[in-house]
Amino acid sequence: KRCTAVVLAAGSGKRMKSSVAKQFIQLDGKPLIWYALRAMEDSEIIDDCILVTGEEDIPYVRREIVGKYGFGKVDAVIAGGAERCFSVANALQVIAGEKMKAANRDGYVFIHDGARPFLTEEILRDTYRAVETYHACVAAVPSKDTVKIADVSGFVAATPARELLWSIQTPQVFETKLIVKAYEMLLEKWDSLREQGIVVTDDAGVVELFSDTKVKLVTASYGNIKITTPEDLAIAEKLLSGMK
Ligand code: CTP
Ligand code: MG
Repeated sequence: KRCTAVVLAAGSGKRMKSSVAKQFIQLDGKPLIWYALRAMEDSEIIDDCILVTGEEDIPYVRREIVGKYGFGKVDAVIAGGAERCFSVANALQVIAGEKMKAANRDGYVFIHDGARPFLTEEILRDTYRAVETYHACVAAVPSKDTVKIADVSGFVAATPARELLWSIQTPQVFETKLIVKAYEMLLEKWDSLREQGIVVTDDAGVVELFSDTKVKLVTASYGNIKITTPEDLAIAEKLLSGMK
């Protein structure tokens, strides 16, 4: 079945505190976003890719990233939104839009943070296998840390059993029909969710809210980190130098 990747690079990278937008920061001589695109390009599983970036960065990305490095699977470079979920929704609208080929409708969507440079073919393969069986899955690793729930004043309120806690990564992979429908519902119910104080921070969360499909956790890799703060960049440099 057709597998479409959505690579997200429309964030503002506030926590990185860098003058260069996070997705374009140089990591071992390549812009951060290059790594996720390389993994998609080289993958035997991924057929095509939609790259989501800031509206003002579209010409730069087309020329200096997609063009320069020859990422032939990138079908479209589109503008994101003010929040991650709007960036995803924009990509899903393209996938579900008029131009959607019949093949897409029965396919899968791999939603991936452009800020995760260590995506591997093994993770793509394992999530592909899981989505074929379970319809929805996310890359994840068992939590190494004990995680506590705090109250609003910063005191411990509860300690959930660690065996049941997972750190969630991307890719998050869904049947196209399922994720398109869930995001349509999200946009439709946006105001009422806001009123209820409900916040969704990942794609699985949208499926959890608007579908009966249970999301399967797929053990990925502790190395599949997201570059969020300057420390992560230093860790990524080290990891890359160890790979050579
Ligand atoms: N992202 C996006 N559109 C947004 C917000 C985030 O496409 N409106 C993307 C980011 O570019 C990133 C991924 O979602 O690849 C994960 O987000 P995060 O790590 O939080 O990146 P930023 O939102 O850019 O960083 P920050 O939260 O520190 O501002
Ligand atoms: Mg963010």
